Amino acid sequence: MSLDNSFLNVSQFNLDFYSDLFSITDHLRQHPFQNLKNHQGLFGALVFFEASTRTRMSFEAALVQEGFYPLKLDSKMGSSLEKGETFEDTLLNIAAMGPQFIVVRCGDDLDLELIAEKISMPILNAGWGRVGHPTQALLDVLTMRNHWKKNSDSISCFKGKKLLIVGDITHSRVASSHFTLAKILGYEVAVCGPDHFIPENISVPVFKNLEEGLSWCDAAMALRVQHERHQNLYEMNSYHELFGFHEESLKALKSEGLILHPGPINHGIEFSPKIFKDSRCCVFEQVQSGVLVRQALIRKLISNK
Ligand code: CP
Repeated sequence: MSLDNSFLNVSQFNLDFYSDLFSITDHLRQHPFQNLKNHQGLFGALVFFEASTRTRMSFEAALVQEGFYPLKLDSKMGSSLEKGETFEDTLLNIAAMGPQFIVVRCGDDLDLELIAEKISMPILNAGWGRVGHPTQALLDVLTMRNHWKKNSDSISCFKGKKLLIVGDITHSRVASSHFTLAKILGYEVAVCGPDHFIPENISVPVFKNLEEGLSWCDAAMALRVQHERHQNLYEMNSYHELFGFHEESLKALKSEGLILHPGPINHGIEFSPKIFKDSRCCVFEQVQSGVLVRQALIRKLISNK
């Protein structure tokens, strides 16, 4: 039973845990090749039942840096999933091979808590349906912290800061992880998007107008419009005009504001092509933070246990 030492939701840990995690990332950033671990012969499993570039490769980079061999299963192709083996049986079989931990990306159709009760090694959530994407939320806040912190071990820099999340909130596991993490770290979250992208009974403030939201916040995150769930092309064109980050809308964001996107980006829908040139854009910094935060997590939960 590995529920206690797994990382499935940001709610599992408190402010002290995240403060310590960020201190590890500071150390890793300042001394990238110091205290590297060598877990010769030990391996971690990377099991991605859904597509991924950033999360999959940054977890792999983090495993290698921490001295674990990455044992990988990417999507259905070439595995016995093609023959109809279930996701659960696949995970239970991989667990039987003896990895130190299993990193999993999956849909809502798999219950990772139930799997964690059946196996002995920790599971790290690499994006689980709409439930959450905890390491994405952590890399987002690590990126924000890099801009907001006053000293290297500061965790209080989040107090009073405001994050606006724009787009498809209803289907977003990134947004749901931020709603929880914000309460732990002390930042405020509001959302903005077309009515049909905002869940009923949402517990955070909703901006109907993007410029109003952008002038309220310290950091603005655009979410990917999930084409697989929204087929209407006309809506997408009007989406860019009303809710896209472009030169005109971003005039409302303060000069020291931050522009974020978890990726992958639909250019011309969430972002206009010039946004990468905006000095406030932190998209690639987020990816760098992703390797650091995942390495720090493995070090804290696995290597140092
Ligand atoms: N942000 C994110 O999860 O990207 P990938 O789907 O490429 O991993």
